[in-house]
Amino acid sequence: MVLDNKLIDRLIAAGQSHLIKFFDTLDEAGQQRYAAELAGIDWDLLQELIKSHVMQKPVIDLPEDLTPAPYFPLQPRSEAEKSYYLQADAAGEELLRTGKVAALTVAGGQGSRLGFDGPKGTYPIAPVSGKTLFQYFAESLLSASRKYNTTLHWYIMTSVVNDGATREFFADNNYFGMSRDQIHFFTQGFMPAIGYDGKLLMSSTGSLALSPDGHGGTLLALRKSGMLDDMKMRGIEFLSYFQVDNPLVPVVDKRFIGLHKLENSEMSAITLAKTNAFEKVGNFCVADNRLYVIEYSDLPEALATQVDENGQLKFIAGSPAIHVISRSFVERLTASGRLQLDWHRADKKIQCIDSNGQSVNVTEPNGVKLESFIFDALKLADKTMIFEADRKEEFAPTKNATGVDSVESCRAMLIDRDARRLERCGVTVPRRADGSPDVTVEISPLAIWDDEDCAEYVKKHQIHALDAGSVNYLV
Ligand code: UTP
Repeated sequence: MVLDNKLIDRLIAAGQSHLIKFFDTLDEAGQQRYAAELAGIDWDLLQELIKSHVMQKPVIDLPEDLTPAPYFPLQPRSEAEKSYYLQADAAGEELLRTGKVAALTVAGGQGSRLGFDGPKGTYPIAPVSGKTLFQYFAESLLSASRKYNTTLHWYIMTSVVNDGATREFFADNNYFGMSRDQIHFFTQGFMPAIGYDGKLLMSSTGSLALSPDGHGGTLLALRKSGMLDDMKMRGIEFLSYFQVDNPLVPVVDKRFIGLHKLENSEMSAITLAKTNAFEKVGNFCVADNRLYVIEYSDLPEALATQVDENGQLKFIAGSPAIHVISRSFVERLTASGRLQLDWHRADKKIQCIDSNGQSVNVTEPNGVKLESFIFDALKLADKTMIFEADRKEEFAPTKNATGVDSVESCRAMLIDRDARRLERCGVTVPRRADGSPDVTVEISPLAIWDDEDCAEYVKKHQIHALDAGSVNYLV
């Protein structure tokens, strides 16, 4: 096969002719596949981004007059607010019962920090049963479906790096008891990785080094994959959005969903109180009546450290990447078939070949990946809402194998959450001097969804106390 002349001219003009150096050595099928890959690239955009984000560090254009974003606190501040929250509970429950809500999980990332071979959702996270992240979410959704007497649909975003393996994993595990048509996979877009010299990297003689285009790619992928139409057809109006690495997240939260609805919000966010001024989470800020999430590395120190009259950080609201998103908002943003969120640069170690077609042993970052982030859509929303959550109840990200935000810390938080739930239902749980539970305990989401279920369970099984050092699996 011969390559389109226009494409060849384009590549030469853009200084990317190395990409076709090995073209003639590929077999016919390889040539066709690679030609389609090259033809699918938006070269105009890429050339601009190489200039602005690769050959130099991108200029961060912070809006002026950033102020801390207001939010609904976890505990209502007044009787009126209390009754508003109860109204939100009822509204959220109604939306769940009537099938207006679906779950949306972004699982397209590469999970490189975890160093696990396979999609992150297939990581065995549960402390006793070893259930994977995907199974944990599936069972939570089954349980919530039972609670609200509905069938909660689950939209799962995969990417070029893990789509096949993810689908296979679900099929091999019989969709964890969910019905096949309850689960909807869709694949996000990708971006080529770029070397520091501005040249695109190749993963083999017949393919570019591609990586997923960031969780911001979710919105356009929902449209391009036909998922927005699928949701509309099913009457789904709101998406409960969470990341694949956070098993502590309540997969659907009636109060959060209800507040989103009552506030006429287009995109809402959960916030957690930051543990310190420089915690590595995004900061919710307002400028020009728009909601921004400013990355920890971009928030000026003078703002990050500002305190109020009680000595509390003013920019206290951190983002754990949990959202409710209205389908109509995604439809509006992507109506033209395009959506340009900001691009962010990440310096990474990228597997690639050299100019002789030999695999390079990459030990240091050798190029740039470009990603867009879902939270950048907040500033495009006409109405937003932020609701505070308790970190211990909602956020245990599994980013690393050990240390901060790791498998270890996540398992400890899952155990602690389940221990607290049992304590609230009158069970005595032994604790160590530092307050951590002196037991290993796991509650299957299939058996117990909320405190009400837990109270019934401990009564039925006559559970009064757990033994120090014991391993308990409530199933
Ligand atoms: P992270 O920012 O933690 O990235 O993703 P990651 O790729 O999983 O991990 P590292 O940085 O390589 O270690 C947060 C969430 O966003 C999803 C991830 O799957 C995770 O649920 N994500 C990230 C996508 O779905 N697509 C992307 O392109 C990037």
